[in-house]
Amino acid sequence: MKVADYIQQVAARFEQAPLCYGHGTDNALDEAAYLVCASLGIDFTDADILTTRELHSDEMAQLETRVSRRIDQYEPVAYITGQAWFAGHCFHADPRALIPRSPIAELIQNRFEPLLKTAPLRILDLCTGGGCIGIAAALEFLDARVVLADISADALALAAENILLHGVQDRVTIVRSDLLENVRGKFDLILCNPPYVSRAEVDSLPAEYIQEPELGLLSEDDGLEIPLQILQTAAARLHAEGLLVMEVGFSHALLAERLHEVPLLWLEFEHGGEGVFALTTSQLQQYGGCFS
Ligand SMILES: C[S@@+](CC[C@H](N)C(=O)[O-])C[C@H]1O[C@@H](n2cnc3c(N)ncnc32)[C@H](O)[C@@H]1O
Repeated sequence: MKVADYIQQVAARFEQAPLCYGHGTDNALDEAAYLVCASLGIDFTDADILTTRELHSDEMAQLETRVSRRIDQYEPVAYITGQAWFAGHCFHADPRALIPRSPIAELIQNRFEPLLKTAPLRILDLCTGGGCIGIAAALEFLDARVVLADISADALALAAENILLHGVQDRVTIVRSDLLENVRGKFDLILCNPPYVSRAEVDSLPAEYIQEPELGLLSEDDGLEIPLQILQTAAARLHAEGLLVMEVGFSHALLAERLHEVPLLWLEFEHGGEGVFALTTSQLQQYGGCFS
């Protein structure tokens, strides 16, 4: 069977199964192409290979095992294949950290225009998980030094592997920290995709999401506890002209309501996603009293 035909067949089987998408794709065909092409190590945009390459029997056997892991155990493709794409770069992915999917990727690829007046020289990726946001920023801003911070030793071990994968070990460092507690120095840009999912939402997540570490999702106080703690302390780690960019996803309405006096700048995305805002250092200082 040709690769393209097998992808169609797998997509039809995915469509019959109660699968949930959202870890890099949003439909059965893209999900099937991701699983098959990543497993075979081929480029899913290369139409010639897809339509001419025959699958060998040993490849089919391996692929069938992976397809059944996706259908029967609801494992996300990124964990099955060990890789996920973010901001145009491939990262190691496994259950030590969340699967990269933040819309902050689009901001990085657009170099945060028009939010930043100059290229940032010091960037902090707070709640870094496997390091995708900070490493992608390092690959975009070649003069920047980047710190990746997370409380999870497992996530930081994966981030360390991704630093080596992208050869940025001279500019990207890791710190284990409960939010900003062990982070030193000041930054031009803090990027943060923290946990922001409430207990009720965590308990009702589809099977695919339960396979991700709960530490990466759960935030008490209806999802707002961790984002508010970061807002309380971020100004102290930013230069005077600095910027905080934080994702709070579907908690954005609740945060906007709670912080109705604060001019949160909600960013818009061409490629989907929502719930990311920006605040400058002076705004964080001015409205500091609202965050407690
Ligand atoms: C939503 S995940 C984001 C991972 C990655 N930045 C991304 O966008 O894919 C949130 C991360 O926050 C980390 N985390 C949870 N509580 C933390 C805390 N108190 N201090 C630092 N990191 C924390 C988790 O370990 C997890 O890696």
